[in-house]
Amino acid sequence: MTDIYWDPYDTVIDTDPYPIWKRLREEAPVYRNDKFDFWALSRFDDIEKASKDTATFSSTHGTVLEMMGPGMIGSNQMIFMDPPEHTMYRSLVSRAFTPRRMALLDDYVRDVCAELLDGLADRDEFDYVQDFAAQVPSMVISRLVGVPEKEREEQRVNIDTMFHIDPEQGMVNDIAFMARIRVHEYLMDLVQRHKNNPDDFGDDMIKVLINAEITGDDGELRSLDDDELVQFTLLLYVAGTETVMRLLGNAAVVLAANPEQRAELVADPSLIPNAIEELLRFEAPSPVNGRWVLKDVEVQGTKIPAGSKVLLLTGSAGRDNDVFPDADRFDIHRDIKKHVTFGYGIHFCLGASLARTEGRIALEETLKRFPEWSVVPGKTHRQHTSTVRGYSEVGISVR
Ligand code: HEM
Repeated sequence: MTDIYWDPYDTVIDTDPYPIWKRLREEAPVYRNDKFDFWALSRFDDIEKASKDTATFSSTHGTVLEMMGPGMIGSNQMIFMDPPEHTMYRSLVSRAFTPRRMALLDDYVRDVCAELLDGLADRDEFDYVQDFAAQVPSMVISRLVGVPEKEREEQRVNIDTMFHIDPEQGMVNDIAFMARIRVHEYLMDLVQRHKNNPDDFGDDMIKVLINAEITGDDGELRSLDDDELVQFTLLLYVAGTETVMRLLGNAAVVLAANPEQRAELVADPSLIPNAIEELLRFEAPSPVNGRWVLKDVEVQGTKIPAGSKVLLLTGSAGRDNDVFPDADRFDIHRDIKKHVTFGYGIHFCLGASLARTEGRIALEETLKRFPEWSVVPGKTHRQHTSTVRGYSEVGISVR
């Protein structure tokens, strides 16, 4: 037995989980937590293998610890599906995520970043997360989905509220729940407007999905119903808003702590894409991903029984010295062959290329205007959740 303790709710551990994750990898690669009734895998190889083995490690009972349970089956979001259902949805929505469609967003991402950062040009200090990073991803997804421009700001506020964390109740609270209902109702209405007046909208994702067909349970081709359309759109907001915001918050803190590497990025912006990969590896925005064990399985000689919850610590995998030499060192020149920060296997992040684009352009535009900054002492705040990790506030001084 081991005296190591880790859980995803402990806010002290969450501030710097890396020393404990290192011990888990070395001393308890198949860690058991009785208090919250879960297992955790922390080594890169084990996480990679488990992610590929969806017949054993299932997503159908939820992937966020406090929401996982025997009764979770049946969600209409593909992140909570296994094959063959997942395969069908994924191949359908991948059609709306073509490289061509993503490339069309480049200019919009740059415009959003430029406008926000220009608005901050006169300030000596600002909050890089709230004044900038929190706003970019939801505006971009709104555009991708087909939310008309003048409705985007209201939805951005609703989406932001969907991630409200209650000090007592965590992610499951009334404020977040009501915001989710408002976004749901709005999207339902938007789908109807797309159907009734298709000419009012451009070539957006809702339009593509309305016109797509899948093979139904009876083997016949059918269109997605309204709930499926709304659930998929909602998933994009949930999966793609908070994560990108955390990536950018981490960038602000890590680059301030490594000013010589930041200066290299200013001098040569072609280094930025690799710096984004290194940031993703070094500080994973979504470091804990849950799975439900469908049949007894043995990992590293330890038996995990069917019906268990297993947390895949992808954030720990990024610091695994067996894969990333000197893994605790941040190095924008690191040769990163692969990482699992976007997940691995069939659930590999659908928005990875969009996230990379947003990260790259946000940093390009930031460094152009603010080549140097420091983090203001006392002006950082972490948002603690059991799945997404990072800052809700990063006050920076740019003078
Ligand atoms: C830095 C930003 C991001 C990170 C770190 C991230 C991370 C992840 C991870 C770890 C998964 C796999 C979850 C699992 O296996 O249970 C995932 C899946 C997913 N992500 Fe992302 N994500 C990011 C941005 C985005 C964006 C911008 C979008 C949408 C525009 C998006 C949409 C999705 C979707 C739809 C899935 C589910 C895919 C499936 O189930 O097949 N993500 N993401």
